[in-house]
Amino acid sequence: MVLFKKAADLSNWLETQRKNKRRVGFVPTMGALHAGHLSLIDSSKKENDITVASIFVNPTQFNDPKDFEKYPVTIEKDLDLLEKAGCNVLFLPSVKEIYPKGTISQKEYDLGFLETVLEGKYRPGHFQGVCMVVERLLNIVAPHNLYLGQKDYQQCMVITRLTELMGQPIRVNICPTLRESGGLAMSSRNMRLSEEERKTASTIYKCLSLAKEKLKPGNIAAIKKEMKTMLEKAGFKTDYAEIADARTLELINEWDGKRKLVGLIAAFLNEVRLIDNMMLN
Ligand code: PAF
Repeated sequence: MVLFKKAADLSNWLETQRKNKRRVGFVPTMGALHAGHLSLIDSSKKENDITVASIFVNPTQFNDPKDFEKYPVTIEKDLDLLEKAGCNVLFLPSVKEIYPKGTISQKEYDLGFLETVLEGKYRPGHFQGVCMVVERLLNIVAPHNLYLGQKDYQQCMVITRLTELMGQPIRVNICPTLRESGGLAMSSRNMRLSEEERKTASTIYKCLSLAKEKLKPGNIAAIKKEMKTMLEKAGFKTDYAEIADARTLELINEWDGKRKLVGLIAAFLNEVRLIDNMMLN
């Protein structure tokens, strides 16, 4: 695996690869890698000649400074995992390298409704920060294919929108969420949970599975209420337990039995905020 720390070096190197007709797949991460990330690397390896991963804990997307301070960093282990997964290139930039003009945003990304609902509502500024870093990374890497995890459902929609705004012919590939045996979605933030908390955290999966099981046409508000109650009984502080149109994220209370729906949860277990989602039909 080749390691780049400078944006210009990576760009130049990739330029040569592209000239030689090599297809480039890109997996952006914030490190603290787990099997979910490695499955993205795997998908990229199958569909491209060169797989580039980046590790950068992006300060501009943390609306809560405590979350940023406590974000797990396991760089030695990450290098080892990427090497073993057969990743070809790792981009490991500094903050200065990503934001040479500083971290104050120079522009506003028009994300429309996506910025007012669910994560957009509960994490103000978060998606602007995600767009800021992903635009920069995509300009440096210019991949043919981008790989994202479905666990961050709304982020996948936001980044798809960003690629449209950028007008770049990048294919966004959304890969399935990997889960622990109890159903807990794999996430770097799980590293901050105790053994006991991990067991409790699988309630999120149970809630989403319950919603899937109970879904039938008509009013679905009672299902959402049941999800919230279940989370609160387990000790969560819930930001939202919602059912939305899978394509637009419009929140749904009356279901016509046809629209594709997704269940989405964000909830705190003590200090740690966890999110998950599931396609319901
Ligand atoms: O999902 C993540 O890890 C981050 O939001 C991303 C896409 C790498 C941007 O910092």
